[in-house]
Amino acid sequence: MSTIVAPSLLSANFLNLEKDIEMLNRSEADWIHLDIMDGVFVPNISFGFAVTDLLKKVTNKPLDTHLMIVKPEKFIDEVAATGSTFMNVHYEATTHLHRVVQQIKNSGMKPAVTLNPHTPVSVLEDIITELDMVLLMSVNPGFGGQKFIPNTIKKVTQLKNLIIKYNSNALIEVDGGVNLETGRMLVDAGADVLVAGSFVFSSENPEETIKELKEL
Ligand code: DX5
Ligand code: ZN
Repeated sequence: MSTIVAPSLLSANFLNLEKDIEMLNRSEADWIHLDIMDGVFVPNISFGFAVTDLLKKVTNKPLDTHLMIVKPEKFIDEVAATGSTFMNVHYEATTHLHRVVQQIKNSGMKPAVTLNPHTPVSVLEDIITELDMVLLMSVNPGFGGQKFIPNTIKKVTQLKNLIIKYNSNALIEVDGGVNLETGRMLVDAGADVLVAGSFVFSSENPEETIKELKEL
């Protein structure tokens, strides 16, 4: 199976979003990764549902929504209304993670749980069989264009072992500072899905860059 690639719209040109979506539609990108921030859980605000609601009109690519907000359970219906395939909630942002995961499933989406760089993989031991995906942050969330945290490689290996131990079907996704070099190490360690923002959108030929990431 080739690597699943999910370009992050955070690094797209917001003055001409449709042009960048058309590029993604033409490309081999598997999904589109949407970063929603609240200025509370992370020190930044990105875009909200007014923007993400429009995407289903202009793309057929599955949407992977990464909520960097406190109490993500408040917005399950809004994320479902975007037509999102995955709803990614941070482990650190909600108290009743098990309940939220069930609510996401009941809304017809696939539940994914995101871990900040300081959160150990072991906290997922009692929920891993319920998840379709785990997203490991390889930067501190909030901004594109940051430097990859090398400790993530070890976490990918640990997560892979946890998934095998519990016979879970969860995919391993990594987000932050992904390029061909860090992507290679992540795929070798067991990552299934690479999110890439600045590396794709600042490249001279984004479609070719997406193809290269897929071939890792
Ligand atoms: C960061 C976001 C990422 C971001 C990645 O908080 O979750 O998805 O867009 O950007 P790059 O690939 O530039 O590190
Ligand atoms: Zn993200």
